[in-house]
Amino acid sequence: MLLLIVLMDTVRKAFVAANWKMNVLPSEALKLAKEIKDLTEFCKSEVLIAPSYTHFSFLTELIDERFQLGAQNVHSSLSGAHTGSISVKMLKDLSVDHVILGHSECRAANNRENEDIPIKINLCLNEGMKLIYCCGEPEEERLASSHFKFVETQLAHDFESIKKWPNDQIIIAYEPIWAIGTGLNATGEEAESMHLFIRNWIAQNYNNTNAEKTRIIYGGSVKAKNASELAGKSNIDGALVGGASLDAVEFSNIVKAWDN
Ligand code: PGA
Repeated sequence: MLLLIVLMDTVRKAFVAANWKMNVLPSEALKLAKEIKDLTEFCKSEVLIAPSYTHFSFLTELIDERFQLGAQNVHSSLSGAHTGSISVKMLKDLSVDHVILGHSECRAANNRENEDIPIKINLCLNEGMKLIYCCGEPEEERLASSHFKFVETQLAHDFESIKKWPNDQIIIAYEPIWAIGTGLNATGEEAESMHLFIRNWIAQNYNNTNAEKTRIIYGGSVKAKNASELAGKSNIDGALVGGASLDAVEFSNIVKAWDN
């Protein structure tokens, strides 16, 4: 990458999201979410909880400018005969305005997911939703040193029809698949170089201002003990946290790492 980006990390507010995946009972959700909200009350970072769909109505009372809710996925249609699915309109009706798209667990579980992602991106942006878009390479691509190419191909495919980059609606989560739930996080340096690569990709395909303003967060075995190293890198604007987000103290310590 030839492009030199002037980093303006102070203009990007840190964003730390809890991806509860298929954990936490609806009856337990408010207590855990409240604990997280209280423990992070004085943090500068934005905090988001992405619980199962069944939990939203218990949690909407907690929403404010700093504390938000997100869905873990959404259907590619607005309504219709799609048994077992949830639409953007339903999420919006519950005051949920963020959605995680392209998580590797969703891409792996549904063989249509990769093809649906560009459709979902379009639909969500048109409906005013904010995206936490996930990309990241499997272990074999990292071992073959083709991880940059892999992520570039994912970005080019998934954003092909997006002509104007809405930086206030897109957060990118770099989540190397080999790091998710394995305890093997990318080092600060490994993550930073991919984040810079993604920022340069946005600059080249859209423009510098968009690249500087877009938050790029890291996911994959983030814990309180490795969060400070990641937070210390100028292109890592927060985290998408799975396992460690189920413990309020551990998660709040991750949030606090981006406050220092
Ligand atoms: P993990 O999950 O923190 O448990 O590795 C991250 C994610 O899948 O978003």
